[in-house]
Amino acid sequence: MKSYNIALLAGDGVGKEVTDEAVKILNAVGEKQSIEFNFESALIGGCAYDKYKTPLPEETLKIAKSADAVLLGAVGGWEYDKLPPEVRPEKALLGIRKELNLFANLRPAIVYPELTSISPLKSDIVAGTDIMIIRELTGDVYFGTPKGVEIKNGEKFGFNNMCYYESEIRRIAHTAFKTAMQRNKKVCSVDKANVLDVSRLWRETVTDVAKEYPEVELSYMYVDNAAMQIIRDPKQFDVILTGNIFGDILSDEASMLSGSLGLLPSASLSDSKYAMYEPIHGSAPDIKGKNIVNPIATILSAGMMLKYSFNLDFEYDLIEHAVRKTLKDGFRTNDIMQKGMTLTSTSKLGDIIKDNILSGM
Ligand code: IPM
Ligand code: MG
Repeated sequence: MKSYNIALLAGDGVGKEVTDEAVKILNAVGEKQSIEFNFESALIGGCAYDKYKTPLPEETLKIAKSADAVLLGAVGGWEYDKLPPEVRPEKALLGIRKELNLFANLRPAIVYPELTSISPLKSDIVAGTDIMIIRELTGDVYFGTPKGVEIKNGEKFGFNNMCYYESEIRRIAHTAFKTAMQRNKKVCSVDKANVLDVSRLWRETVTDVAKEYPEVELSYMYVDNAAMQIIRDPKQFDVILTGNIFGDILSDEASMLSGSLGLLPSASLSDSKYAMYEPIHGSAPDIKGKNIVNPIATILSAGMMLKYSFNLDFEYDLIEHAVRKTLKDGFRTNDIMQKGMTLTSTSKLGDIIKDNILSGM
C-alpha cells in the first residue's frame, strides 16, 4: 500500500477548520484508492508564538522537512498585529518558504462553470477562464537587502531592495515554460521593464530561457497593463510568469474572477521533494470558529499535493470532480451563496464532497 507522510500546519484563525476538511477528503481518497496518509501536526504563526515566542519553531521546520509534503491552513490574527515584525505570524510563512526553498508558487485561477454568476465581473467575460499564475516566491523585494528604516537627512527613511539573481529568474522561468507545455503553450511574462533595472534583467533572462521551449508562445506585459488586462479579458492568458511582489498582487486580483478567495488553492514547490500546499486566503479572524468558512480552497490544495508531490493524477481528478459535483448540486458556503442554492456549513460541505468521492468515478 502506498503511504505518504504529511506535515499538517493548521495555523491560526480558520486554519484548523479548513485543514480538518482537507484531511477528511484525503482520508476518503485513501479509503477509496487504498492509499495511506499519515498526518503529523505542528504549530505555525500566532499559535506557535503564543507557546514558543516564535512563529516558526525549529520543531515545526523539522517536521515540515521530514514529511513528504506540507499542508498549511493560514496564519495571522488581530491579536498579533502589534507584535514586532520579526515575530509576526507572516514572518513564519516567509521563513518556511525560504527554509524549504519553495521558489515556485503555482496559483491557478479557474472559473468553474457552476459559479460564473457569482463573479463580480460579467459572466461572458469570466466564463471559461483558466489561468495559471506562476509567482517567484523566495526572492524580490520580499527578501532583498539592504532594508530597514533609518534616519537620513534628518528624517525617517524606509527602504527595501527589489533584486533578482539571473539564476533565480532562470529556474522560475523553466517552471513556467514546463507548465505551459502541459497546458495551452502560452506564457505571458509580467514585469516593469520600462522603469526597473531588475525587470530588464528579468525580461532578458526569460527571453533567453524561452529559446529552450520553441513550442511555447512568449509574450510580455508591464504589470500595470496586466492588472487591467486580467479584468478586461482574462481568457487571453494561459500561464502568467512573474516575480514575488507582482505575483502577490495579481493573484489576489485574479482570485476575484472566480468570485471568492475561498475557492483558490496553491502549491509552492522547490527543486527537491519539499513542497507546501495552502489556500490563497488568509486566516479570516472575523469568521473564525463559526463553521462557515469555505473549505474548497484547502481541499483543492490537498488535491494539488496529490498531483504535484505524489503524482496521483487520478486522485487529483477524483477530488476536483467531487468538488464540482457538490457545486453543481447547489451546495454553497456563505461566501458563494446564491438564490435558490443550499446554504451549507464548512463541515457539512466537507461531508458532501467526501460522499461524492466515495461514490464517484
Ligand atoms: C500570500 C500572502 C503573503 C505574501 C503574506 C501573508 C506574507 O499575501 O501568500 O499571498 O505576501 O506572500
Ligand atoms: Mg497575497
